[in-house]
Amino acid sequence: MQGTYKALESYKTETGNSLRLVKKEISDLPEGDLLVKVQYSSLNYKDAMSAKGFPGVTKNYPHTPGVDAVGTVIGDKSNTFTEGDEVIVTGFDLGVNTAGGFGEYIRVPSDWAIRLPTGLSAKDSMILGTAGLTAGLSIRALDSFRGITNTKSIVSGSTGGVGSVAVKLLSHLGSQVTAISGKNSQHKLLQSLGAKEILSRENFQENVRKPLGKGVWDIGVDVVGGEILSTMLAAINPAGAVACSGLVGGAQFESSVFPFILRGIALLGIESVATSLEQREIIWQHFASDWSISLNDLAKEVDLENLETEIDLIIGGNQVGRVLVKI
Ligand SMILES: NC(=O)c1ccc[n+]([C@@H]2O[C@H](COP(=O)([O-])OP(=O)(O)OC[C@H]3O[C@@H](n4cnc5c(N)ncnc54)[C@H](OP(=O)(O)O)[C@@H]3O)[C@@H](O)[C@H]2O)c1
Repeated sequence: MQGTYKALESYKTETGNSLRLVKKEISDLPEGDLLVKVQYSSLNYKDAMSAKGFPGVTKNYPHTPGVDAVGTVIGDKSNTFTEGDEVIVTGFDLGVNTAGGFGEYIRVPSDWAIRLPTGLSAKDSMILGTAGLTAGLSIRALDSFRGITNTKSIVSGSTGGVGSVAVKLLSHLGSQVTAISGKNSQHKLLQSLGAKEILSRENFQENVRKPLGKGVWDIGVDVVGGEILSTMLAAINPAGAVACSGLVGGAQFESSVFPFILRGIALLGIESVATSLEQREIIWQHFASDWSISLNDLAKEVDLENLETEIDLIIGGNQVGRVLVKI
């Protein structure tokens, strides 16, 4: 297909990366079977890292970030999809070193895409986006190991993308949720998502003895890493588990073997980027059915013109909930 499209592009300057809106040629998109007209994308921490040129994310600039996209199939050389199908593409290399969802078109391998399930709108799929998929994978892993109903759970980074979806979903599934947050101003939001208790990061860390304290929670969703993860592991009840997906508070953490050998707890690693299409279909199908949660109070909608402010907020740890990007 010929023509131009609008995209938000990150480019290198002498003082770091900057963003600009550009017109690009559809024919310049990378190789791939599947051409998609993007309806919505979303903002994740990784998008901000790519947009700002953080090392270890995007190798070559100029580049269009956006690890998430939902849109309409324009054409698929693999014949997996037909024109007009609505598809979700998240992760793999989208928005990292492949032009991403912050543009009106993406071209990707067709095995990066799944059909938007019946019962989930395109808009809601991107309110969830990679953050929702990651929260969903975390909760599925915890459910397999320990179960969710009637548990006491704890979520870190609870006002952020992964955390806010995790609070809402755990509460929906019958867990009594404690939310750890650095934002005193967001307690109302956390309560509306279903949190029964809210702890500041300091309060949580001061009140748990490490490397093993009193068991308080059955399951945990951690997106922070560092000291918060060390503390969480020390306060999980016997046979419980923590799902670990993020590092906003630090990549290193200290612990001991005691939570594992004295309490039999599990540390479950969560990876959403290359997770199989089968896993993705299971999670998205859940969100379209038994995990159907109202998402409007979780998201603000912005367009490409106003995205940079939101990128700065997420990098500073000051974003709340999810940012839906209307393309
Ligand atoms: N493994 C995967 O596949 C996968 C997928 C998606 C995301 N991630 C990772 O998960 C993490 C969260 O992603 P996200 O999109 O949810 O980001 P986000 O929207 O920015 O949320 C992160 C939240 O963590 C808290 N926080 C920020 N800085 C902190 C610090 N220094 N110490 C303690 N808490 C801090 C804040 O919540 P409060 O103010 O409420 O504490 C913040 O809102 C990132 O590290 C991201 O790379 C991993």
